Amino acid sequence: MPRPERPVPTILIIGASRGLGYAMAAEFLGHGWNVVGTVRGGTRRTPLHDLADTSQGRLEIEVLDINDPPSSTRYTTSCQRDDSTCCS
Ligand SMILES: NC(=O)c1ccc[n+]([C@@H]2O[C@H](COP(=O)([O-])OP(=O)(O)OC[C@H]3O[C@@H](n4cnc5c(N)ncnc54)[C@H](OP(=O)(O)O)[C@@H]3O)[C@@H](O)[C@H]2O)c1
Repeated sequence: MPRPERPVPTILIIGASRGLGYAMAAEFLGHGWNVVGTVRGGTRRTPLHDLADTSQGRLEIEVLDINDPPSSTRYTTSCQRDDSTCCS
């Protein structure tokens, strides 16, 4: 009997514009996960934007500064979804 298909997991990576966060985003995408990666505000284009361009919609970029309490609260809620894992 065929096994039911598992939903594709999603990971939220805070601070994914560069460095370890960016590397983790690329790694999880490579393993088939969906990724929500955060960058700080502004119009600056980052390596994460280039990665999103080639991710076929599996990498979503959100703006978050963890020193901004209202936006931090919003993203804490995202981490509580059943199919998500949270990294920062
Ligand atoms: N690299 C290593 O070998 C290593 C080893 C052990 C531990 N660590 C620790 O792991 C962490 C990440 O290291 P890294 O080398 O990847 O650092 P990094 O290259 O400096 O990257 C830091 C990331 O965090 C983001 N960020 C900084 N302040 C933020 C804020 N207030 N709100 C949201 N995002 C913010 C940065 O965004 P912007 O682009 O907007 O600045 C960037 O995406 C650091 O705490 C570091 O001490 C690193």
